[in-house]
Amino acid sequence: MVDKIEAIRKEVEEIKAETLAKVEDFRLKYLSKKGILSSLMEEFRTVPAEQKRELGQKLNQLKMFVTDRYNALKENAGNANSTDISSIDLTRTSTPMPVGSRHPISIVRNDILKIFSDMGFTVAEGPEIEDDWHVFSSLNFPADHPARDMQDTFFISRNPIDVLLRTHTSSVQTRTMEKNQPPIRIVCPGRVYRNEAISARAHCFFHQVEGLYIDKNVSFADLRQVLLNFARQMFGPETKIRLRPSYFPFTEPSAEMDISCDICGGKGCPFCKETGWVEILGCGMVDPNVLKACGIDPEVYSGYAFGMGIERITNLKYKVKDLRMFSENDVRFLSEFESAR
Ligand code: DAH
Repeated sequence: MVDKIEAIRKEVEEIKAETLAKVEDFRLKYLSKKGILSSLMEEFRTVPAEQKRELGQKLNQLKMFVTDRYNALKENAGNANSTDISSIDLTRTSTPMPVGSRHPISIVRNDILKIFSDMGFTVAEGPEIEDDWHVFSSLNFPADHPARDMQDTFFISRNPIDVLLRTHTSSVQTRTMEKNQPPIRIVCPGRVYRNEAISARAHCFFHQVEGLYIDKNVSFADLRQVLLNFARQMFGPETKIRLRPSYFPFTEPSAEMDISCDICGGKGCPFCKETGWVEILGCGMVDPNVLKACGIDPEVYSGYAFGMGIERITNLKYKVKDLRMFSENDVRFLSEFESAR
């Protein structure tokens, strides 16, 4: 029996049980009622009385050894198991989920904002539900001026004041100038709404970025240089710009800017209607009436403003032919921009 005790001790010493299930097997085998130690106790009863003292001691020592070993194994496996659990991500889906990509409008908006923020412009935003003052009156649209017809407006209510969905982000100019004195140098990205029939070339909502710089001695030459820099960073260093006289109620003088067609390089193609140029934005020197309406002294300060459609720039960059693609959320279209950012 002494040999048996020694053999069991050795065996137990070498056992490695890394999981709680194996530790339980160990307990059943050695320490349970029908386990090896219990049967040794049975056997112990039958040994002659003169051996009982020595054997009893050895048996007790074995029992303590096995119990200690069991406790140690159990603790070990418990710890290992708990780290296992914490390294399992319980929020993971059972089937792989395709990773999305940024919307092309967001990609181009971020590109535009980055170019202007590198030139010292900060981002300003305003509400999409606006009032007449911020969208029209403060921007020098007289009440019955035909310029209001330039932008077909969605009205929300007309009494006591006109509440409407903004038709352009120029409203953020007014909101910023009302609260701040120059120098002001901002770009205002956002969604705008117009009551238009939806087609490949027009939509009832789209996105714009407005720009505004007000300070002392700001000139048209400053505006031209900032826009040239923008066009070259956006469309490549060879890009040329052209400013054509135009009309907006809130700028005087006003202009529209074309860039050289980057499809034909300016030679003329169906995309630029054989002209070699494509229009990308409106701009001009802020009308003194607008400065006055916003509490800025036009005798001291001057400034320029510009506004562009993000969809238009995106079309030029990525050759999207149908405006409706931007809001249909067709993943086949959206996934084409996965590598863009
Ligand atoms: N608000 C004009 C539009 O929606 C765009 C625009 C033109 C903005 C000239 C300007 C500007 O700031 O100076 O068509």
